[in-house]
Amino acid sequence: VSRAIHRSKTDLSASSGPIVAEIEAEARPQAPIERALAGWIATRSRSVLREMVTLVARPGILSLAGGLPDMALFPQAAYARALAEVLAADPRALQYQPSFAPLRDQVVELMRLRGVECSAESVLFVTGAQQGIDLCARLFVEDRSVVVHEALTYTGFQQAIAPFRPEIVAVPSHREHGFDVEALAEQLASGLRPRLIYVVPDGHNPLGVSLSLSRRQRLVELARHYQVPILEDDPYGLLAYDGDFAPPLRALDEDWVIYVGSFSKILAPGLRLGWLVMPPRLIPKVTIVKEASDLECSALTQRAVQGYLSQGDFPAHLARLRAAYRARRDALLGALEGHFAGSATWTRPRGGMFVWVDLDLARLGALAGDTAELLRRAVDEQGVAFVPGVAFAAPVGTRGRESGTSSLRLSFSSLSPDQIEQAVARLASLFTN
Ligand SMILES: Cc1ncc(COP(=O)(O)O)c(C=O)c1O
Repeated sequence: VSRAIHRSKTDLSASSGPIVAEIEAEARPQAPIERALAGWIATRSRSVLREMVTLVARPGILSLAGGLPDMALFPQAAYARALAEVLAADPRALQYQPSFAPLRDQVVELMRLRGVECSAESVLFVTGAQQGIDLCARLFVEDRSVVVHEALTYTGFQQAIAPFRPEIVAVPSHREHGFDVEALAEQLASGLRPRLIYVVPDGHNPLGVSLSLSRRQRLVELARHYQVPILEDDPYGLLAYDGDFAPPLRALDEDWVIYVGSFSKILAPGLRLGWLVMPPRLIPKVTIVKEASDLECSALTQRAVQGYLSQGDFPAHLARLRAAYRARRDALLGALEGHFAGSATWTRPRGGMFVWVDLDLARLGALAGDTAELLRRAVDEQGVAFVPGVAFAAPVGTRGRESGTSSLRLSFSSLSPDQIEQAVARLASLFTN
């Protein structure tokens, strides 16, 4: 290495590009910075989902892929007003600041709307639900701990626990209710002792489905009985289209359920603001973990969101979101019925942004391949995109893994009903052309 560096210095002072390239080629295998990486990250690559989102963000593609809220539905003007007022009024908006108490009180109100009674002392702001997930992983999971999540689950949770190289136990993802609570009960009865259970009870990502009230009750009973914390991830909890969802798990238990909420889907993801609701005595612990990560959430964002919520337009805004997304969900379900009846089955979400489709590959014929392969054809030949099911699968070798290779996740959040119909027709034509 030192010889290479020495040569590189000499040659650089003498001359040109190609020599540098040659020296780099010689030096790289001997001292790659990659070799200095921590073991857990050295063997990992970026999530298929994120790569796909980049791939399909091309102009002209009708994308049913990313779970992005529709930008046309952001309360942009009202938020801009709130932001300007906060900036003009108070320099503390630009200072290091503790959690903004008036916003915590508003979150307590939002939680009430969601069916949960909690105190302001049990709320901690986080930089998006994703940070809440990451902090809880670091709070409860240790090296090689057993962690329970569903066979098909949100990739961000999988990423958050990866540094601990956990032993994952995947419970089946039921196409009607999501998390298979009885399967977990059996495993616990046979001696399984996880450190953490992760669940998305409403607007499940990727299935779109909701857990029934009786299953919620059973799940918290299990958590209490076996003394295992549940991480309840609820970014879609207020996006319910057929009447309110059942109360979250946190409404049923305040000792063993840590709740994660988010403004991403109900206001805008660019705010990067979410919240945890947890037993107040754990707040100092999780604050230690958060401070190591980013000290605190943006004071400016907290104050602007508080200002926006005090303007009083939020209930009408939420009603607009629900109406718009309900129409899109209905358009997607209708289009699937029109183009895939008999050759696929799919979930029927009561909220959220996703529908999960299991293709009947035998009926659709050899053309289909697996859905990751199908995505390339869909983008190239038809200009339509989705997320292949494999993106949500647990790592190969996980107990209870489902591969997802004949499934796809469709998001209805960012296309108009007409575009959704067109996108599904394009998808279907992959099997007929
Ligand atoms: C289930 C689930 N949890 C968490 C997140 C992350 O949300 P946030 O933008 O609040 O970090 C998402 C985003 O799509 C999600 O689908």
